[in-house]
Amino acid sequence: MFGTPTFRQQFPIFQHHPTLVYLDSAATTQKPQVVIDGITNFYQKENANIHRGIYDLAAKATQKYESVRQKVADFIGAKNRSEIVYTSGTTAAINLVAHSFLLPRLEQGDEVLVSAMEHHANLLPWQMACKAKGANLRIIPIDKAGNLDIVAYQTILSAKTKMVAIVHISNTLATINPIAEMIELAHQKNIPILVDGAQSTAHYPIDVTTLDCDFFTFSGHKLFGPTGIGVLYGKAAHLEAISPYQFGGDMIRTVTYQDATFAPAPQKFEAGTTNIAGVIGLGYAIDFINQFDKKAIATYVKELGNYAREKLLMINDLEIIGNAQNKTGIVSFILKNAHPHDVATFLGEANIAIRAGHHCTQPLMDFYGIPATCRASFSIYNNRAEIDFLVAEVKGIQAFFG
Ligand SMILES: Cc1ncc(COP(=O)(O)O)c(C=O)c1O
Repeated sequence: MFGTPTFRQQFPIFQHHPTLVYLDSAATTQKPQVVIDGITNFYQKENANIHRGIYDLAAKATQKYESVRQKVADFIGAKNRSEIVYTSGTTAAINLVAHSFLLPRLEQGDEVLVSAMEHHANLLPWQMACKAKGANLRIIPIDKAGNLDIVAYQTILSAKTKMVAIVHISNTLATINPIAEMIELAHQKNIPILVDGAQSTAHYPIDVTTLDCDFFTFSGHKLFGPTGIGVLYGKAAHLEAISPYQFGGDMIRTVTYQDATFAPAPQKFEAGTTNIAGVIGLGYAIDFINQFDKKAIATYVKELGNYAREKLLMINDLEIIGNAQNKTGIVSFILKNAHPHDVATFLGEANIAIRAGHHCTQPLMDFYGIPATCRASFSIYNNRAEIDFLVAEVKGIQAFFG
């Protein structure tokens, strides 16, 4: 069903670009008609600001906005919708935790752990917090295949560790990290842990309550929803205990010229007019995904990745970066004689959209001693025929440069 012409009809981009081979879903996914219609419908028929007006339209907009919060909670298995904070994306969610949760409790000589495969979004906020407080950012090593070294992780976890932040699925290597085990190990030492779910939430069943992570983050645009909307899940106790780091309208309880008290979580973290239409769109995106079995999505995307790897490896002088045991439908590769940007440019001329660059993982590129990779990433609208076309084109490029 996934990847068939009928299935693809739900995504209007493919009607407007009939020959487009879109292999860049790790950057952002294409949007189904239901999501686009949902957002348009909101602006055309339901638009009003939330939490403010008493009139009918405002009440309905508020109700819809808040009902999506419950939908998100159910989607990722949160116990309560008050554990769901709307942000502008994964990046903003991680920054919120770094500022509001970590900074006040971080002291000189403390340690924060991230892995060697983090996206800059899950590296820089912790790096900056450590710099500000004279703490140390420790890196959980990986092997050349792209497997996280869980034994080293266990060794590095110590009384000094104030926070662990780990990517669930690497956007560059496709590695699926053993987050359940990592969460358990951190908790054995009472260390809080954040999981960056930017690449996993669209394709993998997520249950934050079973996982027991302290924080979980994801972006709407990577799960068929709009840009500019994301989610921070935080355990209720954490969200209640920490202070907001952005201040303004809608997040207060009382205000005088001299002082202010704040609304309970999650409102206290949502200062100002938020991306209301984005939230509405996210709700439709979750409805869209909920039509399918998430395990079937995961299997489909993983199999596309395996198929692409198998076919690409038949090309001479092509190396795949990211060969972890447990991985998904993202394939990073380099050609011996052609720069990734040249490869992507040539593929672009054939209307194949891949990404070339460091994928916001520059230290990881340094680890591999390369400046960039080509990355093809798959979603449910892709199919094997597209991969065959990609492989044929890469073969041609290799022959040209070789
Ligand atoms: C693993 C990972 N983390 C974080 C992000 C940042 O997401 P956003 O740019 O939507 O905030 C990305 C985006 O590519 C990602 O792949």
